[in-house]
Amino acid sequence: MARMSPIAIELVRTPPEAATAMGVGVFADRLDDGDAPDGVDPAFLAAQGFKGKPGQTCVVPGEDGGLIVALGLGPEADVAVATYRKAAAALARAASRCPHLAVDLFDTVPERLARRDVAQAVAEGILLGAYRYTALKSDPERSHLESLAVVGTGGAKVRAALERGQAVAEAVCLARDLVNQPGGSLTPTAFATRAEEVGALRHFGVEVLDRNAIEAEKLGGLLGVNRGSEEEPRFVRLSWAPERARGTVALVGKGITFDSGGLSLKTTEGMVGMKGDMAGAAAVLATFSALDAVRPPVRVLGYLPLTDNMPGGDATRVGDVLRIRNGTTVEVLNTDAEGRLVLADGLSLASEDEPDAIVDLATLTGACMVALGTRVAGVMGNHEGFVDAVRAAADTAGEAVWPLPLPADMRRQIDSDVADIKNVAGARWGGALIAGLFLQEFVADGIPWAHLDIAGPAEASEDDPEARKGGTGFGVRTLLELLAGFRKPAKAGAAS
Ligand code: BES
Ligand code: MN
Ligand code: ZN
Repeated sequence: MARMSPIAIELVRTPPEAATAMGVGVFADRLDDGDAPDGVDPAFLAAQGFKGKPGQTCVVPGEDGGLIVALGLGPEADVAVATYRKAAAALARAASRCPHLAVDLFDTVPERLARRDVAQAVAEGILLGAYRYTALKSDPERSHLESLAVVGTGGAKVRAALERGQAVAEAVCLARDLVNQPGGSLTPTAFATRAEEVGALRHFGVEVLDRNAIEAEKLGGLLGVNRGSEEEPRFVRLSWAPERARGTVALVGKGITFDSGGLSLKTTEGMVGMKGDMAGAAAVLATFSALDAVRPPVRVLGYLPLTDNMPGGDATRVGDVLRIRNGTTVEVLNTDAEGRLVLADGLSLASEDEPDAIVDLATLTGACMVALGTRVAGVMGNHEGFVDAVRAAADTAGEAVWPLPLPADMRRQIDSDVADIKNVAGARWGGALIAGLFLQEFVADGIPWAHLDIAGPAEASEDDPEARKGGTGFGVRTLLELLAGFRKPAKAGAAS
C-alpha cells in the first residue's frame, strides 16, 4: 500500500515541551563573526568542526535535557529554498532517534524567499531525510519520528504549504519504495494492482489493460519486449481532473520492472540496479498519488507500459520487426534498447488523446549518464518554450535537469534497411540524443513534448541528506511543480 506517513506536522508559535530535538539555522558567515543562535555556544560548534555548511549538522546538548541541532545554511547571501530542504533532511538524519522534532528557521529566511515555499521545503526535507526502505529487513531500524513542530507565524498559507510539502514527500517516498522493490516481486501485474490501490485511496482513475487488451490495442512495442518473459505485461492508464481544468497534460513513464537486456543480455554488473528500470512509471504513479492534495489546475493523464525485459526461449530476436501502436514499424537491432519500444506505444496512445503537452520520464540510456553524470537528468523535446517550463519547474523543485539537443540531421542514423526505423544507431555516439530522436517519431505533430532521461538520478549510489542509497523518487517534485504552474505552451513548436 502507499506508504502512509503518520507524522504530524504543526505550525506553532513557541516550541512545544515535547520537542526533544530542536533544529536551528546557522549561517556560515555569521558563525565566522562569532555569532550563533540563542543557547548555542559558537566555541562549542567550532570545536566540533561545525562550519555551517549547507546540510552540515551539529548536535548540542540543551540546558533542559533536550537537544539543539545546529543546521548549516551556508553563507547568508546564497541561501535558497533548496538549502532549507537540505537542512531539514539533515535534521531528520541527525535526530533520527528522537520522536518529536521542532525547527526554528523562519527568522533566517531572507525577504527574497517566500516563507510558504520554505515551509513546504522543510516538510519535504524532514520526510525525505527520514525515509528508509525496510520492507525486507528482518530487524528493521525503524524511524522514530512522530511529529514535527515548525516554529513560526504565517497562518493558513504556511499551514497549507506544510501540508503540501508532506503530500509531495509522501509521493516521492512511494516512488522510492517502488524502485527499491525487487523485480521478482514487483512484476507488471503487481505494479498494476498497486496502481489500483493507490488510485482508490487517492481518488484518481486507474484502468488496467491485460495481455488480451494490449493485443487488441496493437501495442506492438510492449508485446515485443514482453515476448521473452514468463510474466504478463500490463498497460496502466491513469486519469485525474479538477473541476475547471486549464488544459490537459499527459505523463508517460517507462515501466520495465527488470531489464536483463533480453537476448542482447547485459553483464551481471550491468543488471545490478535494473529492478529500478521502472522509475519513470513509478514517478508518474507517485505524482498521481499527490494530485488530490496538490490540486493543480489541469487534467492529468498517465500512461504506463509495464513489462520486464527477459531473454526467454521465444524472446524477440535481433532483426525482428515490431509494429508500434501508431503503425510505425521498428527493426530491433538491440533488444537492450527496449525502453524506447514500450514508450513508443505509450507516446502514441498519449498523442491520440490530444493533450496540450506530453512529458515522458525514462531510465533510458547509459549514454545520458556518461554525458551528465548520476545526479542530473537530461531533458529533450520538440518545443523550446515547454522544455524551458520543465527546466524552470525542476529548478523550483530542487531537481537537477539539463537540456540536450535533438539534432534533425542525426535522425537518419536510425533509418532501417527493412522497416521504417531501427531502435539503435550504428555508432554509439550521442546515444541519449538518438533515443530522444526515436521517441520523437511517436509524438504527434504539434503537441509540445519533453523527454526526461532519468537514468542517472533515479537511483543514488550513496547516501546524502535527502536521499539514501537506492531509489530517489526523482521527477515527482518536478512534475508536481510543472502541473501546479501549468500554462498551455504557445503553438509554434519548432524543434531544435
Ligand atoms: N535501462 C537501460 C538504461 C540504463 C543504464 C539505466 C544504466 C540506468 C542505468 C536501457 O534499457 C538500456 O539498456 N540502454 C542501452 C541502450 C543501448 C543498447 C543503445 C544502454 O544505455 O546501454
Ligand atoms: Mn535495456
Ligand atoms: Zn531499460
